[in-house]
Amino acid sequence: MNLASEQDIEAAAGCLRGGGVVAFPTETVYGLGANALDADAVAKVFAAKDRPSFDPLIVHTASIQAAWDLVDPATWEAQGPAMVTAQKLAEAFWPGPLTLVLPKAAAVPGIVTSGLPTVGLRVPGHALARQLIEQAGVPLAAPSANMFGAMSPTRAEHVTVPCDLVLDGGPCTTGVESTVVAFDAADQPVILRLGGLAVEAIEAVVGGSVQVLTLAEVESRLPEAGAVPGAVPGDPRVPGPGMLGKHYAPRTPLRLVERLGDVDPDEWHDRRVGLLSLAGDTGGGAGFAAVEALSPLGDLTAAAARLFDAMHRLDAAELELIVAEAVPEQGLGRAINDRLRRASTR
Ligand code: TXA
Ligand code: MG
Repeated sequence: MNLASEQDIEAAAGCLRGGGVVAFPTETVYGLGANALDADAVAKVFAAKDRPSFDPLIVHTASIQAAWDLVDPATWEAQGPAMVTAQKLAEAFWPGPLTLVLPKAAAVPGIVTSGLPTVGLRVPGHALARQLIEQAGVPLAAPSANMFGAMSPTRAEHVTVPCDLVLDGGPCTTGVESTVVAFDAADQPVILRLGGLAVEAIEAVVGGSVQVLTLAEVESRLPEAGAVPGAVPGDPRVPGPGMLGKHYAPRTPLRLVERLGDVDPDEWHDRRVGLLSLAGDTGGGAGFAAVEALSPLGDLTAAAARLFDAMHRLDAAELELIVAEAVPEQGLGRAINDRLRRASTR
């Protein structure tokens, strides 16, 4: 590990101003950033990741005010209930692992939002990320810095996508991507992607329960979400991360089980199998070739911070199969289970 120096950050900022692509740390995962206001620069990000153009990018700013500058002014003037809730959430959780999907200002090019009228906005919690944005002097459109569909990078060493520069900011402290919150036709917040900010924390600020949309629900809401002109339910251009089952996946096949005790270890007794679970308890059974314990004390926030790191290690261990045990469905445990579920989809 070779943490970025002031000179490295200035070089990266200059590169971004010149239309380059830079991998940089955030508290959630490493991002692959480009000037969000420069369509040509953003196109390089899609190309580097081999990312389909229908999957919109999150725009990162250094301050709450800079984020609001990218929201459609008419939405501001109307001051509807969605904006009131959005402001409350931003004040409570920015900088941090929350992305708010709001009507976009004209300055945001269509390539960033895949043609959607909305833009995902986030002020990252990592100080180096904010410094980089500040010095570049432009907002950064940045997806996670992995090839499309693969596991997210939580260390600079995990970044394998081609880019002009990688800034090392150490291991990510949150470890799963931001929670993505949009607003429905009734101005109610809905969660499009579980992530590093717990649902419970959002509900405490909103003052009521908040719906977490499933893949099917994201699709069925497509027409009222405004979405892509001419799109129909089930259209692959549906806005939102729920649209693709398989995601966040290691190369090694991953099987998700509710409880390790429920499966017969004979199933894999003569194969090289790895275990990924909260406590790393093998149940006294089968000889696992590798074991990753996310948090022996059962701390789900700590477990989330280690999730992708552990998956990267298991993926490098030349296993035939990774068996992952689901974690309790609460706090960041929900985001962990979501990522494991998608990683196990073939
Ligand atoms: O923590 C994170 O969110 C990381 C760091 C780098 O900030 N970024 C990240 O970006 O995870 P990405 O591109 O891997 O995932 C962003 C998700 C996408 O699946 C996309 O569909 C959704 O956010 N998204 C972005 N803009 C949207 C919009 N206007 N409407 C609905 N969903 C949107
Ligand atoms: Mg991603």
